[in-house]
Amino acid sequence: MASRPAKPLSLDEIRKMERVCRMAAEVLQYASTLVKSGVSTMDLNNAIHDRTLSLGAESAPLNYHGYPAAICTSVNDVVCHGVPRIDEILKDGDIINVDVTLKLDGFFGDTSATFFVGEVSDMAKRVAAAAKDGMYAGIAQVQAGKRTGDIGYATQKVVKAAGFHCVEDIGGHGIGPAFHMEPFVPAFGQPNRGELLIENSCLTVEPMVNQTGKRFRTMPIPGSGHSYYTTMDGTLSAQFEHTILVTKKGHEILTAW
Ligand code: MF3
Ligand code: CO
Ligand code: CO
Repeated sequence: MASRPAKPLSLDEIRKMERVCRMAAEVLQYASTLVKSGVSTMDLNNAIHDRTLSLGAESAPLNYHGYPAAICTSVNDVVCHGVPRIDEILKDGDIINVDVTLKLDGFFGDTSATFFVGEVSDMAKRVAAAAKDGMYAGIAQVQAGKRTGDIGYATQKVVKAAGFHCVEDIGGHGIGPAFHMEPFVPAFGQPNRGELLIENSCLTVEPMVNQTGKRFRTMPIPGSGHSYYTTMDGTLSAQFEHTILVTKKGHEILTAW
């Protein structure tokens, strides 16, 4: 889906990215207050869509290549792109990744987190912690002149050490004046390999971490060009995502929450 290559943004464009990303972070923070036993993933979708519109922004996923909802809600064994449903009711012990992407003034801000419903298993906590720690290890590598392989290598190292598995075929992306741009940002790789990170461009770091293996099952989302993905064996998958500005000296987490 990545099509447009990363280009340096102007100062004015960076301001716009800062604004939409701050808004996306605020909406994700709001989402965290809604996740409770008894709530449906469609309830989350509707509340988050309303909040997004009331901030003057749009939900970028809605109608994106035919995607039917405003957000993605990926529960338990769903790796990503779970579609909210009125009959999917959260219950104690579930984990759920809520992924929000806002569009404002022609620019996109993309962020997600895995939340716990009530008390969850130790395994759930460990998989989610590996995804979060792996994301921050990847982000720590972001600097102009580094490469996407530096990000992926750092992420994978943390996730492997925790005993879990990074999904390889799906990952982060350039972002800015389009939702998905080049480069592809993998959650695996080798130092000093892959695409160069360009000063004043933006990208996402969004590792998907599976409990038992990197492979996944692909399920079509009817009526759209999208699929959602699940683990092969019904075990857990977790994900976190930030939108990052690449700078000469390092980076800024534009969606910091
Ligand atoms: N927000 C997702 C990402 O991190 C993309 C969702 S696209 C959708 O890239 F169409 F599936 F919603
Ligand atoms: Co993304
Ligand atoms: Co996202």
